[in-house]
Amino acid sequence: MKIATIVGARPQFIKAAVLSRAIKLHPEVTEILIHTGQHYDKNMSEVFFEEMEIPKPDHFLYISGLSHGAMTGRMIEEVEKLLLEIKPDYLVVFGDTNSTLAPALAAKKIGIRTVHIEAGVRNFDEYMPEEINRYLVDRLAEINFCCSSLGEENLKKEGFGTGIIKSEVYNYGDVMYDAALFYEKKSDALSTILDKLNLKNTDYVICTVHREGNTNDAGKLTEIISALNIINETIPVIVPIHPRTKKKLADYGLTANFTCIDPVGYFDMIQLVKGARYVITDSGGLVREAYFFKRPSLVLMESPFWPELVDGGYCLSTQLVKEEIIKEFNLLDTTNKDYDSCIFGDGNAGEKIITQIIAHYEKKSGKEMIKPILVKMSK
Ligand code: UD1
Ligand code: UDP
Repeated sequence: MKIATIVGARPQFIKAAVLSRAIKLHPEVTEILIHTGQHYDKNMSEVFFEEMEIPKPDHFLYISGLSHGAMTGRMIEEVEKLLLEIKPDYLVVFGDTNSTLAPALAAKKIGIRTVHIEAGVRNFDEYMPEEINRYLVDRLAEINFCCSSLGEENLKKEGFGTGIIKSEVYNYGDVMYDAALFYEKKSDALSTILDKLNLKNTDYVICTVHREGNTNDAGKLTEIISALNIINETIPVIVPIHPRTKKKLADYGLTANFTCIDPVGYFDMIQLVKGARYVITDSGGLVREAYFFKRPSLVLMESPFWPELVDGGYCLSTQLVKEEIIKEFNLLDTTNKDYDSCIFGDGNAGEKIITQIIAHYEKKSGKEMIKPILVKMSK
């Protein structure tokens, strides 16, 4: 059985690392990894492949830095060519970026089954690029794997799993949680970021901002930066700055008085989250990591991606107005500290997902796969 996996943006490398590790335990499955090139700086791409020992991509498409239409269009064209050549049994896509939507569209048109990992996420902001991508990819996919029960509920409400839409829906938990659990020890052993930044035994805020709606709008970015400058007067704010945001600060002539560093690798990021007192972010990945590592977080979005975290009281959301951001930040000590709710599964999502894909393949093809025999070694 052949699976083509497509990645392109930073969070997808982390998710693919989990799935690739799970696939390796199944010699009956061959994985072909395609990188669209959407993220290309060393610290936005290569560092993750090195640290997380992700197989080197078999194909690299060099498509980046374009408008939505141009990027999506070029990806559809190039991915279609590749899929016709590779002829995989399944295409696996992750999350909600342009590197998720374009491959799913290309595959559907040529009859290749798509598997969507991180399906069913909704924040009901219909004009947000990620919401558009998620909604369409869920609809195109043959199998949708949700991260949480809310994702599954969202899809059921839209008619998935009812016979109207044929796609199969499962909730096996979040591969990002698998990643956090698996790589935490490696990060503890290898990362020196807290020493380098002199943050050991110090209270600080770790913050990331990159959402298009927050950075392309000069007014909103000004409010966010002004709030962070004020918060930084009482507790240090550390921002590994996304290339998009760095460019926009320069374009708008905004001055950050807090500590901006270049984007860091995943191992450093885990330490920065674990060591932080609070997390402020508009990242769908980082807000979940705040929960995994039991840190209160403030989401810089009015309609957050993971409403289950806000509803559970683990994180607060805010309007993008300086005073509101500061007001909500000052409430972070009141968030729910009971982190045993297992919203994102048990840390074995990767293995459950690959097992389900194999079962789907057997059902559809009528072929039974030769399963690896796990031999229990005696002492
Ligand atoms: C993309 C995803 C977003 C995801 C984010 C993860 C879409 C629509 N958006 O947003 O959902 O949360 O990735 O980080 O797919 N750039 C560099 N170097 C890089 C990467 C990007 O300079 O390594 C520049 C690009 O040239 C571009 C800008 O940053 O000018 C934005 O990159 P792009 O991939 O279009 O969108 P992201 O904001 O990264
Ligand atoms: N991340 C990282 N280094 C950074 C910033 C983020 O390793 O400098 C990790 C973060 O820990 C999370 C993932 O990147 O695992 C989230 O990616 P991003 O915020 O770019 O995208 P999103 O999740 O919002 O789509």
